[in-house]
Amino acid sequence: MSPRIRKAVFPVAGLGTRFLPATKTVPKEMLPIIDRPLIQYAVDEAIEAGCDTLVFVTNRYKHAVADYFDKAYELEQKLERSGKTEQLELVRNVLPEGVRAVFVTQAEALGLGHAVLCAKAVIGDEPFAVLLPDDLIWNRGPGALKQMADAAEATGASMIAVQDVPREQTASYGIVATEAFAGRQGRIRAIVEKPQPDVAPSNLAVVGRYVLNPRIFSLLESTKPGAGGEIQLTDAIAALLAEESVNAYRFQGTRFDCGTHIGLIEATIRYALDHEKLSDSARQLMQNALSELGVEELG
Ligand code: UTP
Repeated sequence: MSPRIRKAVFPVAGLGTRFLPATKTVPKEMLPIIDRPLIQYAVDEAIEAGCDTLVFVTNRYKHAVADYFDKAYELEQKLERSGKTEQLELVRNVLPEGVRAVFVTQAEALGLGHAVLCAKAVIGDEPFAVLLPDDLIWNRGPGALKQMADAAEATGASMIAVQDVPREQTASYGIVATEAFAGRQGRIRAIVEKPQPDVAPSNLAVVGRYVLNPRIFSLLESTKPGAGGEIQLTDAIAALLAEESVNAYRFQGTRFDCGTHIGLIEATIRYALDHEKLSDSARQLMQNALSELGVEELG
């Protein structure tokens, strides 16, 4: 048994170059799926998993993320006065009561590993979660992080979310080699950042959800810049698994890579088709669009 995770780190200090020019002023994590920004989906998933302290690693240009989680007094007053109670609840529930948001700055985008290290002082000496908001994970049952937090609590091992990807895509991911899986978990033997398909140890790719033991911080402190000249979280995890068990966790759910154009489009379509108010019109307009373009109707 291991203590339950209470703290979650959201590294949101990347430059988001794949969404330029939008990300010139709008952080990638603030791009919406329907009416909620990506960061909100990740925050809800962390809260569902039991986290009450949310650590946002931002840069000095990303005021939008901090503003979003701040109280919006004037807006709330206006909504209250005009009797818009439903909208008022939406605005207030961005962060439920009892959940604390902490902001730390990553002065320079030196990589994901470096961003996680920036949260060290707030996390202290306890296991914690890392969520990358551009990996959006949809599931009808418990969220991916809750599944992992339950498993990590039972085993005490660090836990990394994985999914099978086509072999030709390994160079876009951290890739793990594992021992045989027992249920959804398999002990990691090796982890490599973005290997070419011919040298990749498997096609099991790391997805942006981690439950990590705090030992990772000292390993990050001695991690040298790796792939792309960045301090890679993957390299510190490789050092961690030389010392203790780190498990891969094949979560239940569908993951959308909202750090890419097509992933963001796919997530929007999926959430619209599953939306209680929008699904009928979304389906209709997709059929209209396809027939206008001369493509066969959806089944
Ligand atoms: P990405 O590899 O997606 O990089 O980072 P990016 O800068 O966000 O986007 P592109 O590739 O330029 O379009 C993975 C995660 O790590 C965070 C990012 O914010 C994202 O959540 N990150 C990355 C940091 O917080 N700091 C860094 O120095 C690098």
